[in-house]
Amino acid sequence: MKLGTALTNNATKAMLLGSGELGKEIAISLQRYGVEVIAVDRYPNAPAHQVAHRSHVITMTDAEELRKIIDLEQPDIIIPEIEAIATDVLMQVESQGLAKVVPNAKAIQLTMNRERIRALVAEELKIPTSRYAFAESYEDLKTAVDSGIGYPCFVKPTMSSSGKGQTMVKTPEQLEEAWKYAKVSGRVDTGKVIVESKIDFDFEITLLTVRAYDSSGKVQTYFCEPIGHVQEKGDYRQSWQPQAMTEIALKNAKAIACKVTEALGGEGIFGVELFIKGDEVWFCEVSPRPHDTGMVTMVTQLQNEFELHVRAILGFPVTTVLKKCGASAVILSDIDSKDFFYTGLEQALSESESEIRLFGKPEALKYRRMGVALATSHSVDDAIKKAVSAANSVNIHATK
Ligand SMILES: Nc1ncnc2c1ncn2[C@@H]1O[C@H](COP(=O)(O)OP(=O)(O)OP(=O)(O)O)[C@@H](O)[C@H]1O
Ligand SMILES: [Mg+2]
Repeated sequence: MKLGTALTNNATKAMLLGSGELGKEIAISLQRYGVEVIAVDRYPNAPAHQVAHRSHVITMTDAEELRKIIDLEQPDIIIPEIEAIATDVLMQVESQGLAKVVPNAKAIQLTMNRERIRALVAEELKIPTSRYAFAESYEDLKTAVDSGIGYPCFVKPTMSSSGKGQTMVKTPEQLEEAWKYAKVSGRVDTGKVIVESKIDFDFEITLLTVRAYDSSGKVQTYFCEPIGHVQEKGDYRQSWQPQAMTEIALKNAKAIACKVTEALGGEGIFGVELFIKGDEVWFCEVSPRPHDTGMVTMVTQLQNEFELHVRAILGFPVTTVLKKCGASAVILSDIDSKDFFYTGLEQALSESESEIRLFGKPEALKYRRMGVALATSHSVDDAIKKAVSAANSVNIHATK
């Protein structure tokens, strides 16, 4: 691939749709190759805005606004960082040959909708998933649960992320509440919810899977070491790498990730979420972009997930080698404030091999992820302890 220089007539221009903490790291990786970065988000001074050449504030679900900004900037590459995007515009832009959409517009459209990705993964590719059904009314939902899904089960909007609108339903009495919550909380009301049987897993992983060109110009699939994580209230709290698992489970996990990403196509990194019990593996979902649990790779891998994504997009070779085991722990706000400051960084950074990333979000909201603590160590357990302790040392205070 030919690379230009940012801010000149021959610049290679990349537009980020979504400018959060993951977008910020993608922007930094792009900057290292002299790519011109245009960061777009729904609010000003978002994390990636702060490290981009230019930034825009638009409603990314509004097709007209999105098309206008693409026409204005004429990027060579469009990199979606979030799901809430008017994907029809991406389909148009791609089919008109105006820009390369990463990994491709169809993959973006498929993965943002639980119904479409289940159709591909469970029905077409025959990959194991939880038992599931889609329901358009409370009666449909109840029938589906009573006739096979059973309790406990998960009720989720078909289009949502970060656990929004999702309930684990343990008893029949909780089902109606879960239905109502899922119906009102989806990003868009598709008229449907998904209900899934609960998988009784030993642990869950993100298998970061990279589709990138090798030196002979062929697209190959590369796997990072599996990342283990714990989820609470719809968001991850800690992640670590590598997650120990049986050889057979790892082989199964890779086979699933390879099939799914091959079907989605294009180049870039994919976060394949899987449930593991012994040697058994179930597919949960996939995101065609760097994954929040993969922030741990900023300290564990030779090339972190953001560099891998950028290298794959630009057509460069990659390596997924692990340097050292490590962990990440999120720094969540416990206050709502637009005027605040952090303390405790000295203590958080006093432990050897510990790092803190603050995302620079202009507004703190309760439970909002404001930063992440990263640590490496001789063992995963010790790295988790260090990352959690560093994250706990950081405090957020309102100025007034
Ligand atoms: N069928 C299931 N069986 C067991 N656990 C589940 C199931 N579905 C979801 N979970 C739990 O809930 C978490 C979030 O589910 P899922 O990944 O489907 O939703 P999400 O809103 O897209 O989350 P995120 O955007 O944070 O990845 C999973 O990581 C897992 O811990
Ligand atoms: Mg998930």
